[in-house]
Amino acid sequence: MPTDIQTLLSRRIPGHALEQPFYGDEAIFRQDLEAIWYRDWLFTAPSCELPKTGAYVTYQVGDYRVVIVRGADGVIRAFHNTCRHRGSVICKAAKGVAPKLVCPYHQWTYELDGRLLWARDMGPDFDASAHGLKPVHCREMSGLIYICLADVPPDFDEFAALAQPYLAPHNLAEAKIAHESTIVEEGNWKLVWENNRECYHCGGNHPGLCRTYPDDPSVTGIGEGGEMPPALAAHFDHWEGAGLRSRFHLSEDGAYRLARMPLKPGAKSYTMDGEIAVQRRLAGLPSDEAGVLMQFLYPSTWNHHLADHSIVFRVTPIGPRQTEVSTKWLVHEDAVEGRDYDLKRLTEVWIGTNDEDRRVVEDNQQGIDSPAYEPGPYSAVQESGVIQFTDWYCRTMTERLAPQAALAAE
Ligand code: FES
Ligand SMILES: [Fe+2]
Repeated sequence: MPTDIQTLLSRRIPGHALEQPFYGDEAIFRQDLEAIWYRDWLFTAPSCELPKTGAYVTYQVGDYRVVIVRGADGVIRAFHNTCRHRGSVICKAAKGVAPKLVCPYHQWTYELDGRLLWARDMGPDFDASAHGLKPVHCREMSGLIYICLADVPPDFDEFAALAQPYLAPHNLAEAKIAHESTIVEEGNWKLVWENNRECYHCGGNHPGLCRTYPDDPSVTGIGEGGEMPPALAAHFDHWEGAGLRSRFHLSEDGAYRLARMPLKPGAKSYTMDGEIAVQRRLAGLPSDEAGVLMQFLYPSTWNHHLADHSIVFRVTPIGPRQTEVSTKWLVHEDAVEGRDYDLKRLTEVWIGTNDEDRRVVEDNQQGIDSPAYEPGPYSAVQESGVIQFTDWYCRTMTERLAPQAALAAE
């Protein structure tokens, strides 16, 4: 079995699962990090997680550690979480609030905007202004924070301009986190995405989710080609007419999609009975029955925005066979637990769904690791989203590795 990624990409059979090394080979995992994770915009946190000056969250992807912090001027910035003295990690907690960023090693002290304020006994020639924290590209869009580790980031404005009108009525900047969960799935990050992009598995695995979420592939697979079902076209027309951006939009490069999708008839939220979970609604929608605004941005996030709450998901690769999935349930900042919502009722469907997805991803990984594994065909009817994802992955890797291959050949 070759593990040279160029060979594997060039002999890929379209419409089929990828070959084994894509899901476990250490070198290909490193290439995924270099070519995708270190170059694309990554969702990190909702901005309501940083409600005041000095609030920060830390984030690690591959070898990079980042701290994202709200400054005294209200601006959210991201920095490499490595001290400019001898390199210690500065912020070690997953989140917190700090008046200044103080390195635990020798207490070099940084302002929340990254400037080095204080460094003891560095002598008269020391230039503090040359030792500020290294910035990381950071954008806040409709209450969601994205970073990019590349020196020169790809365009963000086109995505933001498209996504903002969809997201605006969901008021994410007025949210608070009602609950969060972080799970580690023993599977490659691409298997997490492949599983996310189809509902072929839903009927057999997600009894809770299927109470409200339609697993009809002509609905869930929209945007990947094929005919638009008349009922779906009518749904889009209706809610667009009511002033809500709804029609699906898949980006030209295939990296993101937005669509306001119908839930099952009568369902309003992801609860066991389909009724809303939060009386104090987060979104300002004309109706509770406009469905769910679904947003994905490869490689790091998919989100579900409902009338009463939003759920934001973040995918982070840990190793070739390990992926973290973090989930945050956002409700209106004025919603009161026990009065406006019951936490179990709000979270039970997706806590269960995440666990069911973890199990199928881990089963998938274990079977792929067998020497007998051979890539099988995707269902064009049921798995058009998986085809869209693997096509995006293979095209992106081919394009981004080509200049490196040309350099190596010189
Ligand atoms: S390594 Fe941070 S102060 Fe020395
Ligand atoms: Fe699932």
